[in-house]
Amino acid sequence: MFSFVRGSYPQTRLRRSRRHPWSRRLVRETRLTVDDLIWPIFVRDFAEGREPVPSMPGVHRLGRADAVRAAAEAVELGIPAIAVFPATDPRLKSEDAREAVNPENLVCRTVRAIKAEVGDSLGVICDVALDPYSSHGQDGLVEGGYVTNDRTVELLCRQAVVQAEAGCDVAAPSDMMDGRVGAIRRALDEAGYLDVQIMSYAAKYASAFYGPFRDAVGSAANLGGGDKKTYQQDPSNGDEALHEVALDLGEGADSVMIKPGMPYLDLVHRVKATFGVPTYAYQVSGEYAMITAAAEQGWLDRDSALLESLLAFKRAGADGVLSYFAPEAARLLRR
Ligand code: PBG
Repeated sequence: MFSFVRGSYPQTRLRRSRRHPWSRRLVRETRLTVDDLIWPIFVRDFAEGREPVPSMPGVHRLGRADAVRAAAEAVELGIPAIAVFPATDPRLKSEDAREAVNPENLVCRTVRAIKAEVGDSLGVICDVALDPYSSHGQDGLVEGGYVTNDRTVELLCRQAVVQAEAGCDVAAPSDMMDGRVGAIRRALDEAGYLDVQIMSYAAKYASAFYGPFRDAVGSAANLGGGDKKTYQQDPSNGDEALHEVALDLGEGADSVMIKPGMPYLDLVHRVKATFGVPTYAYQVSGEYAMITAAAEQGWLDRDSALLESLLAFKRAGADGVLSYFAPEAARLLRR
């Protein structure tokens, strides 16, 4: 890029192109549009109403009617897809997370209701992982204190198939088990869901920034003092993320995700530059909470901080961002 000698001051003044709005618009390299947004929503098992998530001011757990309304709102705003996360009734959680594969579970019922309302005008993404259903809060089955891989993968395959039956368009495994993308692909194909996509949480780190999410889906209490370091990636490692992405693409992932977002923009950039495939980033609950809390104190301007944070993902190379700010950002972008 800088292989030729560029001019220098005083001939060159980069401020010239910044002087006027028309000129700033002309030289703008990246743009954030509503097409870049994926909206994660939390659902709970009540027909009407919603309840606030205390650690994520402005975010609610939605009852079925409100979830359907949110989906319709996403369509109206032009948001391409939503991602559905369940806050499962604690009485339905178990050691073996069997509720995850119940075709009548909260996610499946919600997806059916949403699809009946919006059809193909909105993509519906479902999380494939056991943590909303397990009494220990882990993403997989626990054997002898260790989250076991291969038996978990079998269950994840069944989970993805019941979600596909319910009408989910994209299976998004967020569990970080080895080999699950290939196994889920085979299971979906065998069940006839050749066109259900897989968006792999390929590089997902064992991060402190998921705290508010675990409150939202109620897995924090189940997890107790536990962590997910034996399967989620070590925040010290970058090259390993490329390895993860390569494996998942080899196993048939249609797109890959990096998570969390803002502290891992180096990986968004490296993954996109290395593989050139659809690459998404998840601006996670803790990132939402930080911006929201600072804005509530009057320490940040909420609108401009949230738009800038989303734009940063685009500049780093992301094709889209999962963000709790999605509807708000869509409204701001309309202006
Ligand atoms: C669980 C899952 C998590 C998130 C998405 N899916 C949390 C975790 O791994 O503990 C985090 C999302 C967020 O923090 O917004 N499989």
